[in-house]
Amino acid sequence: ELGNYRHFMQKEIHEQPRALADTLHDAVAGESLLPELFGVEAGEVFGCINAVTILACGTSFHAGKVASYWIEALAGIPCRAEIASEYRYRDSVANPDALLITLSQSGETADTLAALNHAKTLGHQHTLSICNVPESALVRQSRLRFLTRAGPEIGVASTKAFTTQLAALFLLTLLLAKQRGRLTPAAEVAHIQALRQLPGKVQQVLALEPEVERWAERFADKQHALFLGRGMHYPIAMEGALKLKEISYIHAEAYPAGELKHGPLALVDKDMPVVAIAPNDILLEKLKSNLQEVRARGGELYVFADADTHIVPSEGIHVLQLADHAGPLSPILHTIPLQMLSYHAALQKGTDVDKPRNLAKSVTVE
Ligand code: F6R
Repeated sequence: ELGNYRHFMQKEIHEQPRALADTLHDAVAGESLLPELFGVEAGEVFGCINAVTILACGTSFHAGKVASYWIEALAGIPCRAEIASEYRYRDSVANPDALLITLSQSGETADTLAALNHAKTLGHQHTLSICNVPESALVRQSRLRFLTRAGPEIGVASTKAFTTQLAALFLLTLLLAKQRGRLTPAAEVAHIQALRQLPGKVQQVLALEPEVERWAERFADKQHALFLGRGMHYPIAMEGALKLKEISYIHAEAYPAGELKHGPLALVDKDMPVVAIAPNDILLEKLKSNLQEVRARGGELYVFADADTHIVPSEGIHVLQLADHAGPLSPILHTIPLQMLSYHAALQKGTDVDKPRNLAKSVTVE
C-alpha cells in the first residue's frame, strides 16, 4: 500500500495534487459554479443566510479559520470559526439565519457532532457538513453536504484532508460571493481557471522536498519553534505548529506576526528557530519588519516565500521560494512545505510518524 513511500503521512502529502483534482473535478468542469455542489437545497439556503459559523476541531478548525478570512473578504458575509468543544459548552447568541458549517475529515469526531447537535437545539437549521467520509454521522445529520475526495487518510496527522477542505471552502466562498453579486462572470472564470491549475502548482511545491528536508535536519535538536503568519496565513502558521508538535514532539507555537512585540519576542534567541510564512501579499512589508525584529534578537529565520517575494537570504535568514503568489489560494500552497518540514523533522527524531504517541486518528470520545 505504501508504494515507494516510507510512511502513510509522506504518501498522503504527495497524494495532494490528485486529492485536490478529484475534490474539484465536478466544480471546475464548466465555466460557472453551481450551488448544487453543496446539495440540492444549497441555492435556496445560500440565498437566505446572513452569517456563517464554522465549527471543527484541530486541523479541521484551522481550515475553518482560513475560510473565515475568505468569506468575509470575498463574499462580504460575517463569518467566524470556533473550536467545537468550546462552542458546545458556552452560552452563545444563536443566529438561526446563519449557515452553520461543521468540518471534519472523519465525520465522527465527538466534539464536532455534539456541537452540531447543540447548534440545532439553538435553532440552527441551515447546516452544512464538509467531510471526507460519505456515510459518516456528521454528513447524515446535516442538511447540506460537500464530500472532499481525499481518499482514506491513514496517517494520524491530517494532511490531504486539510487541503481538500480548503478547496471545498474556497468553492463555497465563491458561490456565496456570486450569490451576493460580488463575483463578476470574468472573475468567476479566472477563479475556476486558477483552481484547475492548483494541483499542478501543488506538485511544483512538492518538488521542494529535498530542500525542506535539509531545513528539517536543523530542527531535530531544537526544543521549541515559533511559526509566524499574518492574515489568512496565520491559521496556516497554526497548522504548521500543530503538525510539528504532534509528530516530532517539538514544542511549537503560532503567532500572528504583529503580536510578536506584545510578548513572544522575549522568547527569541539563537535556539529558537522561527518559521515565517511570507507570501507576496499586502502584509508582506509588515511581515518583513517583524522578521527584522526576530533577526535582531539572534533568532534563526526559515522563510517560506513566494517566487516574487524578494526576501534575500543572508546570515541566519534561510529563504525557500514557492511559486509566484497564488492570491487567495496561497494558503493551500503554503501548507505543503510545513507538512514536509514536520514530516522530516519527525524522521530525524525517529518518532512514530504515522502513529504519534497519545493520539488517535479519530477522536470519537470526549
Ligand atoms: C491533526 C489532526 C487532528 C484532527 C482533529 C479533527 O493532524 O488530524 O487535529 O484534525 O482530531 O478530526 P476530524 O477532522 O476527523 O474531525
